[in-house]
Amino acid sequence: MPGSRRPLHPANPVVLVTGASTGIGLAIAKQLSERGDTRTIVSARDSSLPRLAAAGLREGERCRIHALDVTDPRQREAVVEAAERHWGGVDVLINNAGITYRSVTEHLQAAEATRQLETNFLAPMELARLVLPGMRRKRAGRIVNISSVSGMMAMPTMGVYSASKFALEGASESLWYEARCWNVWVTLVQPGFIHSSSFRNVILSEQARHAVADPGDPYAVVYRSMAPFIERLMRLSPATPEHVARRVLRVLCQERPPLRVSATFDARFFYLLRRLLPRRVYHAVLHRALPRVREWGSEEG
Ligand SMILES: NC(=O)c1ccc[n+]([C@@H]2O[C@H](COP(=O)([O-])OP(=O)(O)OC[C@H]3O[C@@H](n4cnc5c(N)ncnc54)[C@H](OP(=O)(O)O)[C@@H]3O)[C@@H](O)[C@H]2O)c1
Repeated sequence: MPGSRRPLHPANPVVLVTGASTGIGLAIAKQLSERGDTRTIVSARDSSLPRLAAAGLREGERCRIHALDVTDPRQREAVVEAAERHWGGVDVLINNAGITYRSVTEHLQAAEATRQLETNFLAPMELARLVLPGMRRKRAGRIVNISSVSGMMAMPTMGVYSASKFALEGASESLWYEARCWNVWVTLVQPGFIHSSSFRNVILSEQARHAVADPGDPYAVVYRSMAPFIERLMRLSPATPEHVARRVLRVLCQERPPLRVSATFDARFFYLLRRLLPRRVYHAVLHRALPRVREWGSEEG
């Protein structure tokens, strides 16, 4: 059974999903279209639209396909305008599109950090800004931001990705207080490691690419231990994009959804670890668990 068969809130909603060409976004779009009680705007970057057709998603009475690069202000406005013209506006915004830079702090250029923050933080909040007036007028709406376990804990080589999700968490929390009075509910869905091929989409910063190829680089051992470590955790994870999508659909069926939802078992585990352990102990435990951490810094810098 795709998602829950309980009714959605609001009923028969117009749902906009970003980054639906693959992974979690595609799984959400498919599960929404299988339910048949939503009007869904499935969006993806222009170059990725053919993948939607290949996955069986086509335009129809209840489905519109729209090109949307979330970092492009004109495309953001166009998709929200189209939703207003055809279906009277967006009732549910699912900010899913995201990218992941992998780089140690020393190897990150400002332009790379900006691209990470634009995609994962600024764009979702700009889309929220565009749909909020319509939601306020209707006194109903949902904004679901796909965050991450990295929105509450940071790992080495993933600093700027974490920064983007921490920022998303902070801004969403603030919006949760602001929007409740209009019956607009904001939810942060936090997946942990997902068994998917998304690790292939990780973007190494330019300097990180050089460092990975250079055994003499002071950070070479950090990259060479962290990358397989993270990929192994993803491969071993029982959670799939479909699993996260079902969790998102359950949120849409809740009359008063919570601000934060752990979407996988490990996300719940890390949440409890962070909450229950004294901060110093928590960081010491995680540091010890890092792969080959005793070898880090052994190169001449
Ligand atoms: N996979 C995990 O383990 C994991 C864990 C925690 C959180 N998350 C979060 O879950 C969300 C979905 O990730 P995923 O696992 O499904 O990753 P994925 O398979 O790499 O999918 C990312 C999606 O975002 C799209 N995208 C990237 N930049 C975009 C842009 N500028 N405009 C529009 N779309 C864009 C991609 O489109 P293209 O095909 O055009 O590149 C793709 O459809 C992300 O926000 C991610 O941070 C993932």
